[in-house]
Amino acid sequence: MKAVMMNGSGEPRAVLKLDEVNDPKAPQSGEAIVRIHKRIIHPADYQTIRGYLPAEVFTNAGVPGIDGVGVVESVGAGNDCATGIQVGTRVIVYHAKGTWAERVCVPTATLMPIPDDIDDAVASQLATNGITGLMLLRAAEQAIGSQEAPATILVTAAGSGVAQSLIALTRALGGKVIGLVRRDADGGAVSKRFGDLTVIGTDRDDWQDAVRRAAGQAPLVAIDPIGGQMLPKLLALLAPRGTLITYGALDPTPAPVSSGFLTSFELTIRGCSAMGWATRTPAEQRAADFNTLFDLARQSSHLFGGYSEFPLASVVDAIAAAEASPRRGATILVSDD
Ligand SMILES: NC(=O)c1ccc[n+]([C@@H]2O[C@H](COP(=O)([O-])OP(=O)(O)OC[C@H]3O[C@@H](n4cnc5c(N)ncnc54)[C@H](OP(=O)(O)O)[C@@H]3O)[C@@H](O)[C@H]2O)c1
Repeated sequence: MKAVMMNGSGEPRAVLKLDEVNDPKAPQSGEAIVRIHKRIIHPADYQTIRGYLPAEVFTNAGVPGIDGVGVVESVGAGNDCATGIQVGTRVIVYHAKGTWAERVCVPTATLMPIPDDIDDAVASQLATNGITGLMLLRAAEQAIGSQEAPATILVTAAGSGVAQSLIALTRALGGKVIGLVRRDADGGAVSKRFGDLTVIGTDRDDWQDAVRRAAGQAPLVAIDPIGGQMLPKLLALLAPRGTLITYGALDPTPAPVSSGFLTSFELTIRGCSAMGWATRTPAEQRAADFNTLFDLARQSSHLFGGYSEFPLASVVDAIAAAEASPRRGATILVSDD
């Protein structure tokens, strides 16, 4: 079968190649072979390819890719049909390594059947990104606790794939969101995607004042995948006892955070990972969470359009498109068939 292989770490053009590799071995009990049709490119993929994230966590023997959408080709002996996973089932693979290959062997427990009315391109965006949005919403709810007035949530990188699910899910529940983008000039397009979302560019000299004015009172929660220099700026905007939920490192430089500041205002910094959701969430809850996302895709289909697709052989161009700024939509790698 064909697979994109990493040869060391560095610029994608220098280290990636579409190669012929062995098919996965026959599935054992509790496993299935899935022929992957589509997978989106995540920042974690190109951060791993460049060596910023550990290859052992985000690749399988040099093949990148942490999720995808495809069709079950075979299942191990003794598979429990009650899981709904059988040969021919169209599934989301939401917790795997090495999905930039034509086939993967994965535990059936990490597969989610896809309803007929959700197409592969949309389903591929719900896999890790939709789940991360939902998980972040839950983390924000925990941080806010019970309050009479809806609390304001600050969401950075508001134009990203994860943020779009997070923002849409939060607003559907009546939550108030302020989006931040890195360039104010791009704020209008992001705001329009959500109707009337307040979006502020962090290139404005007065962006922190603009956030305070828009929020009315200091936000209790900020949700951020940037990190680095952005972290102390967000902490400075939070109300005392507020929480900063971090879920990425788009700025890979270490964050200069003052423990005196955290202590004085009793602030919390909490990390969240979709891998944690996949390994700790009971099966019934995982199915319920995906149903929430399928409904989101039905109700807000415009959020999942505007994607671009590239064959596996054009992986280098696909990564360049995924990194283009501002983001216009998901970038999807498609197998030939
Ligand atoms: N913890 C988890 O389990 C988990 C799961 C999924 C994703 N993530 C993380 O979530 C983040 C977003 O992923 P995604 O797939 O949603 O991204 P995406 O759809 O590919 O979009 C990337 C977004 O990040 C913005 N961005 C990139 N570098 C930036 C920087 N240095 N400063 C400010 N904004 C920057 C881009 O802004 P422009 O539009 O201005 O270019 C764009 O809106 C990544 O860090 C990813 O690793 C974490």
